[in-house]
Amino acid sequence: MTIPHSVRIAGLVLVTTAFYGYVGQLVPQREVQPPTETVLRADMTTADMVKVGGELMVGKGLCMTCHTIGKSGALRFPDLEGVATRASTRIPGMSEIEYFAKSLYAPDSFIVAGFNPGMPVINKPPIGLTDQEILCVIAFLQTLGGTPTVTLQTSHAYYTPPGGAPAAPGGAPTNATPTNTTPAQAPVTR
Ligand code: HEC
Repeated sequence: MTIPHSVRIAGLVLVTTAFYGYVGQLVPQREVQPPTETVLRADMTTADMVKVGGELMVGKGLCMTCHTIGKSGALRFPDLEGVATRASTRIPGMSEIEYFAKSLYAPDSFIVAGFNPGMPVINKPPIGLTDQEILCVIAFLQTLGGTPTVTLQTSHAYYTPPGGAPAAPGGAPTNATPTNTTPAQAPVTR
């Protein structure tokens, strides 16, 4: 007895489908998840912030794609070793915390002597760190030659946390903008 063509074809389709289905099962399944947002606890200690800040500088912040820590010679980007000791003297009258905030929120408003502009605005895309994340980065920068003092309640000219206290000693904001977290960047003439 001969099997009709249509039945053979149907059979072949079934077998082929079953075969590919089986092979598909053998391939390990990997679920692609969006990157997990780091949730920053409001009660983080300064030490916790330093740790998170260091991770952000290598990861999401992309800082270390440009900057180095502890490298000398002819560099395209300022080396950040000991930057905390330089921060308070960069702009006369400006505290270390305020200088760091300025260099992250409005990098082009002050250019380190000997370097070209080119640092991205850190709280805007594509990097887009949050205000809290930037405070963590500032905590880490403070460890580079200094002692970290910021908390998540620290305020500065570019950010005032909800119910935030004035910045730590030496970091009192001079012209805090309470509601607007993205103040106009007043260009500073050099
Ligand atoms: C695309 C390269 C690039 C990336 C990414 C970058 N920077 Fe910069 N950064 C620069 C350049 C160029 C300068 C010098 C020009 C200036 O002063 O704006 C600078 C200056 C600085 C300064 C001032 C240093 C000093 O000696 O006064 C600090 C602090 C700083 N960057 C921190 C950071 C941090 C923190 C990050 C990550 C959140 C970061 N940068 C990401 C290029 C970059």
